[in-house]
Amino acid sequence: ATINVRKDDTRQISDLLVGIFFEDINYAADGGLYAELIQNRGFEYAPDIRKEWNSLTAWNAYDAHSKLSIDTVSPIHINNKHYVTLEATAGGGLANEGFGGIAVRANEKYNLSLFARAPDANTVNLQIRLEDANGKAIGQTTIKGLSKTWKKHELTLTSSATVKNARLVIQLQQAGKVNLDMVSLFPENTFRNHKNGLRADLAQTIADMKPRFVRFPGGCVAHGNGIDNIYHWKHTIGPLEARKHQRNIWGYHQSYGLGYFEYFQFCEDLGAEPIPVVAAGVPCQNSAHNGHALAGQQCGIPMEEMGDYVQDILDLIEYANGGVNTVWGKKRAEAGHPEPFNLKYIGVGNEDLITDIFEERFTMIYNAIKEKHPEIHVIGTAGPFYEGTDYIEGWKLASTLQIPYMDEHYYNPPGWYIHNQDFYDKYDRSNAKVYLGEYAAHIPSRASTIETALAEALHLCNIERNGDIVAMTSYAPLLAKTGNTQWNPDLIYFDNTEVNPTVGYYVQQLFGQHAGNAYIFSDLQLNNSDDNVRKRIGKSIVRDEVSGDIILKLVNLLPVEVAMASDISELAVDSENVKATILSGTPADKDAKPIDTKIDLNNFKLQPYSLTVIRFKEKK
Ligand code: AHR
Repeated sequence: ATINVRKDDTRQISDLLVGIFFEDINYAADGGLYAELIQNRGFEYAPDIRKEWNSLTAWNAYDAHSKLSIDTVSPIHINNKHYVTLEATAGGGLANEGFGGIAVRANEKYNLSLFARAPDANTVNLQIRLEDANGKAIGQTTIKGLSKTWKKHELTLTSSATVKNARLVIQLQQAGKVNLDMVSLFPENTFRNHKNGLRADLAQTIADMKPRFVRFPGGCVAHGNGIDNIYHWKHTIGPLEARKHQRNIWGYHQSYGLGYFEYFQFCEDLGAEPIPVVAAGVPCQNSAHNGHALAGQQCGIPMEEMGDYVQDILDLIEYANGGVNTVWGKKRAEAGHPEPFNLKYIGVGNEDLITDIFEERFTMIYNAIKEKHPEIHVIGTAGPFYEGTDYIEGWKLASTLQIPYMDEHYYNPPGWYIHNQDFYDKYDRSNAKVYLGEYAAHIPSRASTIETALAEALHLCNIERNGDIVAMTSYAPLLAKTGNTQWNPDLIYFDNTEVNPTVGYYVQQLFGQHAGNAYIFSDLQLNNSDDNVRKRIGKSIVRDEVSGDIILKLVNLLPVEVAMASDISELAVDSENVKATILSGTPADKDAKPIDTKIDLNNFKLQPYSLTVIRFKEKK
């Protein structure tokens, strides 16, 4: 095959093309990216999520003489009603098992905090220990003299061993009674060393993708399972003990420790645009119940409450961007960030059914944002994707309201990506731009393999060509804790100690690290005229105007090597500076990783089932 470059035939494309979609699914937040090591720190787990869950889930009495009970009288905060009362003789206590064990490393420091009071004003000291699975102490500290009213204690523990399944033990040194709440343990080493921060290894794996934006907090989590489960950003800010708790649509608990402040901060750390998504006044599938909307069960926030809901969204913009003298800007400053977060985009709705109930509420929100904050770009939702009806109602609304961006979601088999390479070539350039907010190639085993990853790479090549109309893309979902998944495949799997990126991750990483802002048109000449063969070779050439580099991406979905020559003389390649990276394997391969290599641009081969990324400088 030969590539002929048409150097002057170029198109400016979006410089936000590859970002990430963070949803709290698969234990992505609590027990995942959020570095808190204590599970159920606030004693707020409840059976409305899982019938076997209660305020003492993940907690155990230390011995038969330790009595644990749950109380709600005079809590630390009304949003955090439950706390534990421990009554025991000297040496009695309670222990937390973390999220399937607490993983600690030798010589690392851990920040412990808890609220305590001794209601009977008895003199009790607490001994706090990290214990390995054999009950051996691997780090300890003491809190002396508790007060009769709630007091927050903050201490540091250093672990003497590397252990996957430690537990945290709190013991009374004298017989007595104590109330405890918000028992928390964080590694001192979090991503960018923030307090209440993120797991450093997981966050760094995300940062290595060079995402240009972060969409959060969902997905279905954003609009929730019924009206009372809609995600309200105001519940997720401020002191941790004052944040509300919420059942997660995916069947577990949300402490909201990773809340809107932390999301904005993470975006800033990544150098990525924040894209919060709020519910469009309707829950998942506009349905009163979990699951599917049945005729007659459609619902939304009652219209008489929509005014307050719209105000919450305007307040979110003020929280992100307002001056420190504004009500919500002041709260951001109090959280430690007086400078604005420079919010530019906001998503309204997620895959909602485009019905009257939806349209009425969406329009109200959209008009209010446009009027009060014309500088903010609203991203509407195109609705669920059904072959044949492809977003028709959503796009009609986009055209009527002149919505600037529309969020599309689809999960299709690899063949769909091979046979729909002109999907965006056909899009109306006079209507909204596309944010492809969720997509992935799915095979029956629901694994991420070379086959699915190359289908995604092929799609991204076609999207780069259409980077004038497609403004942003994000694979979905991003994170999954092994053994705790509700959805597969995901981009990055992890457990308490390891991070395992998938093959699909490396495709996203290569496109993220080798993005450009101008597309250069080219022709691919193949000796084979069979359309089914031709469709399995993809290409994209972009120029990154910041570095001045040209990037050539080539996808080979054929089981055979393809000899390549390129007529890129027009580009005056500096042949000393050609770098190539190849991701290849057999179709079912789940472990392939990119390999850096050298390449002669005039004569090279595409390996069977591969993505090749070639980056070079033009001669000055
Ligand atoms: O990405 C997983 C889920 O898929 C999202 O929560 C939802 O938007 C979509 O249906």
